[in-house]
Amino acid sequence: MAATGQSPEQSIKRLAELLAGARRPAALTGAGISAESGIPTFRSGDSGFWGRFSPQDLATPQAFAADPLLVWCWYAWRRAQLAEVQPNAGHKALAELEHRPAGFTVITQNVDGLHQAAGSRNVIEVHGSITAVRCSADCTPRRYRLHERETDPTAATAFGADREVAQLVAERGDEAFALIREGHAIPSGVPPVCPSCGAYLRPDVVWFGEELPIEAINRSYKLAERADVFLAVGTSAVVYPAAGLPELAGAAGAVVVEINPEPTPLSNQADLSIRSGAGSALSAALELLDRGPGRA
Ligand code: OAD
Repeated sequence: MAATGQSPEQSIKRLAELLAGARRPAALTGAGISAESGIPTFRSGDSGFWGRFSPQDLATPQAFAADPLLVWCWYAWRRAQLAEVQPNAGHKALAELEHRPAGFTVITQNVDGLHQAAGSRNVIEVHGSITAVRCSADCTPRRYRLHERETDPTAATAFGADREVAQLVAERGDEAFALIREGHAIPSGVPPVCPSCGAYLRPDVVWFGEELPIEAINRSYKLAERADVFLAVGTSAVVYPAAGLPELAGAAGAVVVEINPEPTPLSNQADLSIRSGAGSALSAALELLDRGPGRA
């Protein structure tokens, strides 16, 4: 049951104590941890992605089958948004925790790569990565990664028109998607096709109705079951199976700490709910941790 009546300062002090004593700490993160980098979350009313766009039209296998160009362009636009942003204090604090004796693993629902950009090495991406693409017909396990664009001709082709799409959306705003849908203003060469079988390439992300990558989710279950302190940072905790990880950790004996400015379905089950942005809460806890016990 969530601790009640604690001030944010007391909650953060408690988090620092928990992290100081943790032997197997881990976290589940969601879009909220990247919000302070300037990336919209999914469910923040009109400004969230799912307030402006319909997930059924953009993030399902059926949507890709019906309108591959539109779906491709949406992800290309999001990749271009990412190119402009940096990891924030929340990502950096979690990366720093990895260097402590207990280590730290981040299980993330985010596809943005910002944990890795902040220096985290132990990252499990349960919803895939937006900077990779793969064959939509699954003819090969090969992934083409954005950073290989300079060296790999197929990656160069796969990501070739990203900037063109991003420019179109920057110039025309949401109207660009209506134009793309109507067949106007279509950048050439998108979606690119698989060099092995000719099917369209697709973003290497998990869409609604799809299975999570089996190895990633199995490792996440094991980590949650073994964790003694488990953080749920910046997630609305409504999309399963990832949303079940904090519950699983709690049932297996971990102290569950939620960091989120808003209450979520997890709040009543968490042992501690910190009503704050991820960047300030995590960096303040880290600072207390560095000062050592009794010096807060
Ligand atoms: P959501 O957009 O559902 O939730 C983001 C959460 O972050 C909300 O609960 C916010 O209150 C919180 N938040 C906002 N600003 C914050 C801040 N500065 N610090 C901490 N928290 C903050 O995003 P997710 O829970 O990640 O899946 O969504 C889960 C999945 O649903 C996503 O991976 C994506 C989406 O549809 C797919 O596309 C398959």
